[in-house]
Amino acid sequence: MYRVLYRKYRPTVFADVIGQPQVTDTLRNEVRSGRLAHAYLFTGSRGTGKTTCSKILSKAVNCLSPVDGDPCGECEICRGIDDGSIMDVVEIDAASNNGVDDIRMLREEADFTPANAKYRVYIIDEVHMLSIGAFNALLKTLEEPPAHVIFILATTEVHKLPATIMSRCQRFDFHRIPPGDIASRLEYVCAQEGCTIDREAALLIAGIADGAMRDSLSLLDQAMGRSEHITEETVRKTAGLADKSSLIAICDCILDKNPAGAIDLIDELHRSSKDMARLCEELVEHFRAMMLIRTMKQPESVLVMSEDDLKKTREQASKLQLSFIISAIDKLQSSYDRMLHGVNRRIEMEMTIVHLCSGERSSDLSLLIQRVEMLESTLARLMADPLAVRPVTSARPASNATLPQQKPPSSDEMKKLRENAVPMEQWPEVLEEIAKSSKAVSTGFEGSTAYISGKFVLVDSDRDICFELLRKQQNRERMKAAIFKVTGKSYSLGRYSYPDEKKTDDALSQLASELKAAGIPVSGE
Ligand SMILES: Nc1ncnc2c1ncn2[C@@H]1O[C@H](COP(=O)(O)OP(=O)(O)OP(=O)(O)O)[C@@H](O)[C@H]1O
Ligand SMILES: [Mg+2]
Ligand SMILES: [Zn+2]
Repeated sequence: MYRVLYRKYRPTVFADVIGQPQVTDTLRNEVRSGRLAHAYLFTGSRGTGKTTCSKILSKAVNCLSPVDGDPCGECEICRGIDDGSIMDVVEIDAASNNGVDDIRMLREEADFTPANAKYRVYIIDEVHMLSIGAFNALLKTLEEPPAHVIFILATTEVHKLPATIMSRCQRFDFHRIPPGDIASRLEYVCAQEGCTIDREAALLIAGIADGAMRDSLSLLDQAMGRSEHITEETVRKTAGLADKSSLIAICDCILDKNPAGAIDLIDELHRSSKDMARLCEELVEHFRAMMLIRTMKQPESVLVMSEDDLKKTREQASKLQLSFIISAIDKLQSSYDRMLHGVNRRIEMEMTIVHLCSGERSSDLSLLIQRVEMLESTLARLMADPLAVRPVTSARPASNATLPQQKPPSSDEMKKLRENAVPMEQWPEVLEEIAKSSKAVSTGFEGSTAYISGKFVLVDSDRDICFELLRKQQNRERMKAAIFKVTGKSYSLGRYSYPDEKKTDDALSQLASELKAAGIPVSGE
């Protein structure tokens, strides 16, 4: 019988789990030293190894002759757990067993010592699905865990867990797996299966799967059904992606302000039964790539594409203004949302492309973007050479005179931004990301929190150092790139609250008035 790849290639030892060293190294150490916790919480995005590591850990703690913190896989306990003859490892799928009774039973059972193994291990998968009653019952056991019991809770939605449960667990965050690691694993699987895959194709799969190994293996499975030698083309066809050259061609039409040409291309894709929502998504990806190229020193580190495509995309990016690129992403994304809500996809696609060909920015956003860009470029120049931005004496007052149509976001707008702000749960992840490139910067943000509101991430801290750091262009870019890496979305930065709220309500105006106070005119160029 054919076994799907992602089941067949489920790692059986920590050493084979890729891309999660922060989890696997620690767990192996704990097993080696025998310093085990009573409850573990595995969280993080889909298909990245939570269930896999739960199974490995349940064996490792019970194995008769563990090898360097990994289960041996051969002793009677390892084999017994694998074939289900040893009942001391219990897997509960909370998605189908969310009742109090199950957990109550588990509590009674947990009091007995294990029958064969050293520890009785309860793996509760999708633990966020438990009912309140069940959580309370579980909590009682977690409060006074019998010495021979280990709980492993796994979930993608950690924010749905009660804090009382979380605080009793040792928490491990599983990250999206880096594309290079996924690609290498796919190459390995292909070699085992007697077929071949081009590196570009493997990277493309990794990109489509967005860091999930299960999705990557599923896509590989389908691609292998098409061909024994998997190329980028195979993957594109399998995933129903447009040829990269079509995307580049459509973007060329946007550059040339040639709506007729673009509509022809869309028509062609439509006739070859290309889904318009998918095309829209891919265009978002293409513009996102251009945005990263324009904002990052080494976009290669986050972009998954062949050198040739990268070269062409760079060329296009250099001809577009960053603010246009950002507004295009915004426009395409709203268009995509509308497509999913049932409007005629083809007409929607055409309208959006015609609009983009006109070169206009979507109006409401553009003012804000222009203003942010202006402030950023002024800041950049200030950092580079303080003298360079001394007031250029001119007849005009050094205000918004050069951009007369432009209005700063009023304090009312800023208030609204804050009223709609929600705590940004991924902030710790963002700081972790920052720490990779600069310990100093990440230390500066210690104790800070952040909120998301519309297109803004609003940073909050009572230490001024944060905002001092954010005044540096390089740090802002770093922060935005980190936010992008974690959320997949681009945000502008702002400040959530001020020590003296009366001074001003508006992060940007605050910045502007600081510049003015330093004798720097806040104007376009
Ligand atoms: N880090 C990894 N290294 C190697 N293979 C992995 C990894 N993560 C996932 N896989 C592959 O994907 C399959 C699914 O992984 P797993 O069930 O552990 O994911 P999960 O994190 O529990 O996902 P979900 O949140 O959807 O439950 C595994 O059988 C394995 O083939
Ligand atoms: Mg799972
Ligand atoms: Zn063993």
